[in-house]
Amino acid sequence: MRRALLTLVVGVAIVLGAGAIGGFAYYSSARTSNVGDLDFANELAIPPLLQPREEDGRKIFDLTLQSGTAELLPGKSAETWGANGAYLGPTLRASRGDDVQLRVRNTLDETTTIHWHGMHLPAAADGGPHQTIAPGATWTPGWEIDQPAATLWYHPHLHRETADHVYRGLAGMFILDDERAAGLGLPDDYGVDDIPLIVQDKRLDDDGSLDFSQGLISPTGRLGDEILVNGTHDPYVEIRHELVRLRLLNASNARVYNIGFADDRRFDLIATDGGLLETPQRLGRIQLSPGERAELVARFRPGERVVLRSFEPDLATDFFQARFAGGDDSFDLLQIRAAPELAPAPAVRGRLGTLEPLDAAEASRTRHFELSGNAQINGKRMDMDRIDEVVTVDTTEIWEVRNSSGTPHNFHVHDVRFRILEYAGSAPPPHLLGLKDTVYVPPDETVRFVVRFSDYTNPHHPYMFHCHVLQHEDRGMMGQFVVVDRD
Ligand code: C2O
Ligand code: CU
Ligand code: CU
Repeated sequence: MRRALLTLVVGVAIVLGAGAIGGFAYYSSARTSNVGDLDFANELAIPPLLQPREEDGRKIFDLTLQSGTAELLPGKSAETWGANGAYLGPTLRASRGDDVQLRVRNTLDETTTIHWHGMHLPAAADGGPHQTIAPGATWTPGWEIDQPAATLWYHPHLHRETADHVYRGLAGMFILDDERAAGLGLPDDYGVDDIPLIVQDKRLDDDGSLDFSQGLISPTGRLGDEILVNGTHDPYVEIRHELVRLRLLNASNARVYNIGFADDRRFDLIATDGGLLETPQRLGRIQLSPGERAELVARFRPGERVVLRSFEPDLATDFFQARFAGGDDSFDLLQIRAAPELAPAPAVRGRLGTLEPLDAAEASRTRHFELSGNAQINGKRMDMDRIDEVVTVDTTEIWEVRNSSGTPHNFHVHDVRFRILEYAGSAPPPHLLGLKDTVYVPPDETVRFVVRFSDYTNPHHPYMFHCHVLQHEDRGMMGQFVVVDRD
């Protein structure tokens, strides 16, 4: 009896000990970094600019959604999705005032959607979960570009499938121009001194194919240990100008990046999601959660090589969550190689512009959104048949978003751009001073912003608001609002 008890006690001790060691090993292995491991062997791909066709004063853009194979790891092939190609899609570009039409043909054998993230447009053209494109079908939304110059993007938004569809490779940039921005003398030669950077993390199998498995304990879903920029693994880019603008897009499913240069040089942040800031912000890091964009301008010296890196992001979670949500991870993203001679450029100076007024004093009401668990807003999961919020056109509102889970989330609103009033109990930090459509919401904190709904009423077609951590969105952390006339 004694002996049996002793055996039991020893046995339990061994199991617990092994568990603790295993747990520790797992905790340790959850930290991911490629810093120092890359050779920067591959020239960065620049997504081609899609030339529109002109028809009756309209700009027509043709996108064909297709499956294919891409070398995500050089020399190995992966089955992927893309638009007009095997992986990612071309960059679309239009100017304020343009009448655009998108012709999106789905040659995949699955239904999907294409959403224009950051675009102010009628809800029926938005490409959210209701605007499905069946296999073989072509969807042709159109609208007039009526918002300031900005870096937007497009990606699938099929309910419950967004994470997989984006992960397979469907995403691209949508750059908007306007006269004011064009007159500022900012670097704007696409792919030359104005470089799009679509940053994604992937898990890749040994044979180079996409691994769809989830991290065992990850609170935010799939985190990869390989980085692709514009679909290029281990990339470098050559530059020939002193001053270069980088358009950063976090098109990852779940990963938050904290981007800066390996030598800690500072840069000018000139734009965020919704367009130019009023004045450039001199920073050393810019943190981007999934869906967020930033434009920065940095200065280089002839002949130098400098690495663009993602440092450990500040997720403001407890240490356990931080580890499994990527808070301890760091990645080299891209090596920038400056030519021996660089075209000179004056510094970015002064005002970039004046933001359209969004006056909190005019707000007619405050709405509250509570992000809870990994799947709910205000205690509810997304229901395609339920309208969660009804907004009256021509009103300004304050939206207050609270993250009451211990998990990282962010918050994205379709159709509009907002200005942050209060961020985690303080005035917004420099990188959140401009127009935003997606914002990180730290655990147990609140973000308040002011937003205006100016037009495009339609009681039947809703817009979405949701967490842009795609697994959370797919699980139901999403809601719908309609914009309606006053009566
Ligand atoms: Cu980037 Cu609702 O989407
Ligand atoms: Cu969106
Ligand atoms: Cu979330």
